[in-house]
Amino acid sequence: MAKRALITGVTGQDGMYLSRLLIDKGYEVFGLVRGQNNPKRAVIERWAPEVTILTGDLLDPSSLHRALLTAQPDEVYNLAAISFVGYSWENAHLTSQVTGNGVLNMLEAIRLYSADDPGRVRFYQASSSEMFGRVQEVPQRESTLLWPRSPYGVAKVFGHYMTINYRESYGMHASSGILFNHESPLRGPEFVTRKISLAVARISLGLQDVITLGNLDAKRDWGFAGDYVDAMWRMLQQDEGDDYVISTGETHSVREFLDAAFARVGIEEWDRYVVQDPAFMRPAEVDLLIGDSSKARDVLGWTPTMSFEQLVGAMVDADVALEQPRAAA
Ligand code: NAP
Ligand code: GDD
Repeated sequence: MAKRALITGVTGQDGMYLSRLLIDKGYEVFGLVRGQNNPKRAVIERWAPEVTILTGDLLDPSSLHRALLTAQPDEVYNLAAISFVGYSWENAHLTSQVTGNGVLNMLEAIRLYSADDPGRVRFYQASSSEMFGRVQEVPQRESTLLWPRSPYGVAKVFGHYMTINYRESYGMHASSGILFNHESPLRGPEFVTRKISLAVARISLGLQDVITLGNLDAKRDWGFAGDYVDAMWRMLQQDEGDDYVISTGETHSVREFLDAAFARVGIEEWDRYVVQDPAFMRPAEVDLLIGDSSKARDVLGWTPTMSFEQLVGAMVDADVALEQPRAAA
């Protein structure tokens, strides 16, 4: 019998990579898509036509219950969230509801659905290195004290501890992946890596003059999204639910990302193409993230496959290919 998986946030970067990974492993995959006439629905239908789309919203508990009844999943991957940190200050209440309370809605729906056998449905929660915020230890690991610096980070802490609480209270097979930043050509253009790769591609093709950014000194531990969804799957194949940091163990500044991206199109001196604007600075910044993923490497046998340079190169190349027809027109 093929295993069955339900993915919330299936239209996002990770949902798209995870759906392909699970389909390739022979799973029957169900994806939750929110909203009326959501344009992303067509995108996931093209990307992975094998996915059965269910409509629902993390804010609507009955839609989650219905999705469970239809999908009858062995595994639930809760990837849905308002995930853009910058947006979360302007929309703190909504972010708390979706990114925080939404996790509780999903956990509670699973608890009621599988009350006869609490371990029947395995649950993955998309926790985040943003929870480390003002970091209390370098590198950050599973035991590092959480000190979130944004409404998004606070909401993720709530979801993280709710996941642990449901595991401890009800014996659910619930795992929390504390994933550090992961990127790809499918990354949303609001995030700094994709904003840069798109702009660099367009500048190299003569379609754009400058890119406007905020803090260039922030440091992130950037990995490849395709590697990180594999870690999610591995967590749910363990005998027990647990928490795992997933990271590369390398950190780079936004400035270094710019170096690598511009170098890919043959530009070594990029100063004249980059403008800084306080509008892109955050009320409270996370200055440095670097993760220690020893536990995941030892227990899950997980390891990242793509270097920083390869990742930046792949993103820039994909955006050059995307923008080329516009330059030719
Ligand atoms: P993403 O591209 O922003 O995708 C977010 C997904 O959530 C989208 O499918 C979105 O649907 C959906 N969504 C938003 N509000 C919803 C609601 N009320 N009900 C149902 N679905 C809703 O994010 P991602 O990069 O794939 O990340 C996946 C998860 O991992 C997120 O929870 C994120 O916070 C977390 N995470 C990401 C990273 C990273 O570096 N990428 C690191 C750590 C943790 P629409 O398409 O309709 O908007
Ligand atoms: N987005 C953005 N836009 N960020 C900028 C810009 C800009 O113009 N200029 C500088 N930055 C800096 C931000 O201040 C931040 O320090 C860093 O670039 C990364 O920003 P994002 O790419 O928006 O990612 P993030 O680290 O805030 O959040 C991502 O990673 C988290 C895991 O640590 C998101 O994917 C979250 O959902 C995820 O949980």
